[in-house]
Amino acid sequence: MSVQPATARAGANIALVKYWGKRDARLNLPAAGSISVTLAGLETRTTVSPLPELDADELMLDGQPASAERIVPVLDRYRMLSGQDQHCRVESTNSFPTGAGLASSASGFAALVVAADAAFGTRLDAARLSEQARLGSGSAARSIFGGFVEMAAGHGDDGRDAVAHPLLDAADWPLEVVVAITEIGPKSVSSTDGMNRTMKTSPYYPAWVDSVPEDLERARQAIDATDFEALAEVSESSALKMHASALAAQPGLLYWNPATVACLHEVRALRAAGTGVFFTVDAGPQVKAICLPGQGARVAGRLAGVDGVERVIETTLGPGAGVLT
Ligand code: DP6
Repeated sequence: MSVQPATARAGANIALVKYWGKRDARLNLPAAGSISVTLAGLETRTTVSPLPELDADELMLDGQPASAERIVPVLDRYRMLSGQDQHCRVESTNSFPTGAGLASSASGFAALVVAADAAFGTRLDAARLSEQARLGSGSAARSIFGGFVEMAAGHGDDGRDAVAHPLLDAADWPLEVVVAITEIGPKSVSSTDGMNRTMKTSPYYPAWVDSVPEDLERARQAIDATDFEALAEVSESSALKMHASALAAQPGLLYWNPATVACLHEVRALRAAGTGVFFTVDAGPQVKAICLPGQGARVAGRLAGVDGVERVIETTLGPGAGVLT
């Protein structure tokens, strides 16, 4: 079988029921499941070119040479699966504004595994692609699929069943998403380190993990019934509980700045006044507002006016990862 260059794209995703903690750090096996939405507008495009003349893998990120450390294990697995031993040049670009502090590991690893699958001709099915993406970053397993996606915690030690699956297509409930950027620059403590610290030191971590299965059930039912109010309640609660467990770590993880908190109040005020919107926050200071179809522009306008908000990005739910060439 010959190897050939291939390009793939994948959208970022935002968890509504959060992933925060692992049962196995080496394989990124999550301690509990999670549910997310995949975004259309924030995406990574990645080209994998296997080249016989290279003696090591190379990475170009947004046009700049970058460390290949995290992509080499991914490519090693494709070399093993395909029986081909070529090193690769990997070129990856994010459509996210640079320095916006938005996580790119989910879309990045999802695009990488789909491009590598095409380049090495391994033809893995979607569940196996999700498994490969998870090995790069836990949340990346979800970006293989579009729309509403659930990630399973799985039971096995090998991670075969810790993969994502789609719940509902974006077209069946085309919610809109507004990201309020409250701080430009790299985040203080990465998700990986933050959840690690929470697992090791937060007295609230066990309570957090125990609470997730019920949230997953509530979110599944809300998505199934396209019940926005119910999804709003469970999603805001999941985000706040995740941050509560992180705040109680030693030393405490305080990801929010004053503008983050101001945006949370603004979203709640908008919802109380009848706008279909709820918030979620990941391991950083940006606020993600999930909106009913047609309400994104209004929410974006309001969040742009909050003190300390640098800019807002409006997007929609989008498709799963796929090959472009
Ligand atoms: C807060 O997937 O970035 O965004 O598996 O260590 O790479 P690793 O962590 P990562 O964690 C994401 C955490 C989160 C919540 C979520 O996306 O579910």
